[in-house]
Parts: sequence; C-alpha cells; structure tokens
Amino acid sequence: MPSAAESHPPLRVALLGCGVVGTQVARLLTEQADDLASRVGAPLELVGIAVRDASAPRDAAVDRSLLTEDAAGLVERADIVVEVMGGTEPARSLLLRAIEAGAAVVTANKALLAEDGPTLYKAADAAGVDIYFEAAVAGAIPIVRPVRESLAGDRVRRVLGIVNGTTNYVLDQMATTGRGLDEAVREAQDLGYAEADPTADVEGYDAAAKAAILASLAFHTRVSLDDVAREGILAVTADDVAWAAQTGHVIKLLAIAERRDGGATGEAGVSVRVHPALVPTSHPLANVRGSFNAVFVEAESAGELMFYGRGAGGAPTASAVLGDVVSAARHRVLGGKGPQESTYAELPILPPSAAVTRYQVRLDVEDRPGVLAQVAHALAEHGVSIEAVRQPTARGAADVAEPGVAELLITTHAAPESALSATVAAVAELEPVRTITSVLRVEGA
Ligand code: HSE
Repeated sequence: MPSAAESHPPLRVALLGCGVVGTQVARLLTEQADDLASRVGAPLELVGIAVRDASAPRDAAVDRSLLTEDAAGLVERADIVVEVMGGTEPARSLLLRAIEAGAAVVTANKALLAEDGPTLYKAADAAGVDIYFEAAVAGAIPIVRPVRESLAGDRVRRVLGIVNGTTNYVLDQMATTGRGLDEAVREAQDLGYAEADPTADVEGYDAAAKAAILASLAFHTRVSLDDVAREGILAVTADDVAWAAQTGHVIKLLAIAERRDGGATGEAGVSVRVHPALVPTSHPLANVRGSFNAVFVEAESAGELMFYGRGAGGAPTASAVLGDVVSAARHRVLGGKGPQESTYAELPILPPSAAVTRYQVRLDVEDRPGVLAQVAHALAEHGVSIEAVRQPTARGAADVAEPGVAELLITTHAAPESALSATVAAVAELEPVRTITSVLRVEGA
C-alpha cells in the first residue's frame, strides 16, 4: 500500500521574502524534503520565492529559477504562503490575497500582527484557513503554541519576556564590560545583532509588538501595539548597570503582560508594558545572556515555566516557520484547522498609570540632618511604602560624591505607577534634593 506521502499530491508552498530567514526556509524545505514529506503525509513543493529584485545576488541554497517579482501572482498558486518579508505593506495585502485564494498562511511578521492581526485572523476565519505565527515572537523559541494550546486549560497570570536579542546583548555587554550604551550598541552593530538603524530594538518597538501578541494569546483579549506602554533602553547608563550589580540585580529590557484582579493595589484588567527593569540575580531571567531570548510564564495551575533559546537569526527563525508549515500542511492532508484567535475574555486594558510595580530611585541630596525624613515623608504622603534605603559610602562607577552631598538609593514596595511617578516628581521638588539620578522599575522579585 502506498504511504500517505506517496498518495497525496504535493502541497505547493510559496515563500514571500528571501532575506536571512527566507533563505534558510528555502534551504530547509529542500534539504529536509523527504523528512518533511513523511511528517506531513505529502511532499512540500516550493513553487516560488517572491523578492523585490530577482537579479540580486543570493545564497547558493536558493534555487534562482524559483525567484519571481510577481508576489501577487505567486500567492494565487499556493496551498501554503510563508511570509518572511516584514513590514506592514505589501505583506498585509499579499497575505489577505492568499487567504482569499484559500491558502493557509504562516508569517513571522510581528509588526503586522501587533498592528493589524485581527484583520488577518478574521479573514482566515471567514475563509476557513490556518494562520500560524510561531516565528513572530522570540524566533526559534516555541512560545506561541505553548501559550495558545498547551496552556489553554490554565489561567495565565503573568508573562515576563526578554524578547529582543539586540537589547539583551547590549545590556549584557554593559554589565560584563562596564561599557556605555553607545559603545555597546556600536559593537552589536559590528557583530550584526543590531541593525544600522537600531531604533526598533533600542526604543522597544520590536519588544512591544511581541508583548502585544503574547498578551492577546495569554489573556484571550485583543491587545494591539497601541495598548503597550513602551520605554526603550536609551536612558540606561553604565552607572545604572553598576548600581544594579551592587544591589544584586541585572538590568533587562522586559516585555511584561499581566492580569490584575483588582483590589488594594490597583484596578482589574490587563497591563502590558515594555521597559528596562532591575531583575534580581536569583531570577531565571537574570541568567539570559548575550542575544538569547527567554519567556517566563506564571500560570495558576502550571506554576512557573521558562522558555529559552535563540530569538533571532536565519536558521533558528526558519525552524519556527517550518514547524508552522508542517502544522498547516498536516491539516491540508488530514483535514481540520488550527486554533482561531480567542478574544472571548475581553478584559479591559489598563492604562500605563495603573501598572503595579516597584521603583528603585537613586538621588543626590544634601547630607544634613532631617533630609532622609523629608524624602520619606514625601513617599508616605503618596501612599508609597519604602522597602529599603541605602546611603552608600562609595558612589557608582561613573563619579565621585561632592562634599556635603549624599547619594540615596530607595527601593519601594509595589504601588501603582501613578503613585510612584507622582512621588518621584514630589521628591524632585524638595529643597535638599539636588538630582534624581535614576529611576528604574524592579520586576521579578
Ligand atoms: N531584532 C530582533 C532582536 C529580532 O534583536 O531580537 C527580530 O525580532
């Protein structure tokens, strides 16, 4: 008897984009063709690769006879369309066209999904086709499927992610070498981690898109890029990094999505944000080094889970893309369909001011009796409780204390962001306070 793979006609795969990831997808589809056919139950036939310039030089792994500049025509003759071109347009129009033509789609396009995912999900639902996007969040790390499927029987409370490898590399370099931010970013560019224009990474846009996707899946609530409070790493100094180490922390750019049930410390709803944060060195995320990514999930029944691996790069991202291609292809062979967007919970999205967090504030004050009491009073007036106050004898890495000036390091207990930021503003106005040197949030404690 012929196997299913022998009896089922080939499934036509169209690839949109042939950059670092697309090249690896094309290579793996060819090199692993036999294994993929056995796993799917039908051969996967790469029928075309849409590129902007078909005459440009390409990696030897790419069969040049498959290159085409007619992306719209290509999507019409495919069973599965893989989009790894990035950017909002023409990716959105091409994927919609593919869906309307009855193709399943696989995309790695986090920006498009965070901005306009619902348009694609709705179209895929109406057409009865699959839409998969494992590679859009944290590259090779299986995180979309675990949150969407494996944890579908649980209640996720919180997702804390290091989902941008460039900024993790930069912050890690600052911590290990004492370098400043600019120098570490230049080094990341030289090594090919950071783009020539690193804005999307260092200003947190890339992480915010991934946070929106993860939050939507985790909380069955539609979360878009505009719902994510975002702060990048540009304000992090070598001194902040040195102080973090002295207090048993590392600084990480975190994507945080949490469900709050309301109560004494805040409103009920979903809080989604991206910002640099002090993470205790004892937390598993503190050991995520270099350009690696990790996502830490806290769920009611499962407890704490951590997913770790490469968040970018051609082959790692292609691995996630191929996994989705196999899932979509299996449905073509065996019938059935992957999960749809689930937004039944419709939890309110909390404003940034309602996020509950802890602050570590570093400030220079006049070194005389009663100053600490004044500062403590300002915190108390705003209902912010102090966890620890340090008056270090030695300053941070960058400078030396002026005579008569003391540095204070105040760590608060958890409080709403609105109260914490109002407190810092009030403290800055106090007569003996010279400067607020740094304000960092503390997470994962
Ligand atoms: N630029 C991203 C990073 C990878 O540095 O992690 C793609 O999202």
